[in-house]
Amino acid sequence: MPLVTNPFRALIIGSSGTIGSAFLELLENDPNCTEVEGIHRNSACPIDYQDLSTIELAATALSSSAPFGLIINTIGLLHSSEWMPEKKLGDLQAEQLQNLMQVNAIGPSLTIKAFSKLLDPAGAVMATLSAKVGSIEDNRLGGWYSYRASKAALNMLIKTASIEFSRTKPNTALIALHPGTVNSRLSKPFKGEQLGRPPLEAAQDMLHVLLSLKKEDSGTFISYSGERLPW
Ligand SMILES: NC(=O)c1ccc[n+]([C@@H]2O[C@H](COP(=O)([O-])OP(=O)(O)OC[C@H]3O[C@@H](n4cnc5c(N)ncnc54)[C@H](OP(=O)(O)O)[C@@H]3O)[C@@H](O)[C@H]2O)c1
Repeated sequence: MPLVTNPFRALIIGSSGTIGSAFLELLENDPNCTEVEGIHRNSACPIDYQDLSTIELAATALSSSAPFGLIINTIGLLHSSEWMPEKKLGDLQAEQLQNLMQVNAIGPSLTIKAFSKLLDPAGAVMATLSAKVGSIEDNRLGGWYSYRASKAALNMLIKTASIEFSRTKPNTALIALHPGTVNSRLSKPFKGEQLGRPPLEAAQDMLHVLLSLKKEDSGTFISYSGERLPW
């Protein structure tokens, strides 16, 4: 039986982003979703991974809206105005690596720690958007050192927490979710507009997967199509 039962409440973390806002729109129009909250770094209760103290504060502020049957964290970073993904080892810079670790691994794992208290103990799914390029086994092209490493670190943190949750929160599935290539701000410099799918289409596919997850799916790395990806 799916973990998320109807009716359910949902929370989108990073709802200002392309994929985050698509999830918000879909859930606002889903008759089984009685309430959907969206938070981001400029929302009323802000969550900003440059200031990690905001994570606990945001979780505490949202506790009156809990429990949530579905929490999706869509926060992530690939490039900035100062740097782009590395093409070769010679491009590796400490500042870029630290920044991506902070936004793609440290922030999301502390978010799991803080927000998992808001999950519905009767049945819930918490998904964090990862990326297939974070798969160590699937790495055939190389490059993108910092982004790959930060998503691989995120994947390990999710897997480890899922093992603990199988004992402490047995009705919860904690997963790493790959959205596919989506036309967004993040993918724009890499032909995202030509290669990527429309965000609503991608979010619809991912929602379908999330709403059918069962207990035994916890601790997996899943694609928008439902395919299990190698870690
Ligand atoms: N698009 C793709 O093709 C693709 C492929 C694989 C994986 N992904 C993953 O999917 C997720 C969503 O990506 P997207 O395509 O929707 O990108 P996006 O449109 O750039 O959205 C990124 C989101 O992350 C937030 N964010 C960035 N830095 C932050 C920080 N320091 N603190 C708090 N929030 C921060 C942004 O907030 P602001 O709005 O305030 O900037 C925004 O809400 C990411 O985790 C990404 O790695 C995307």
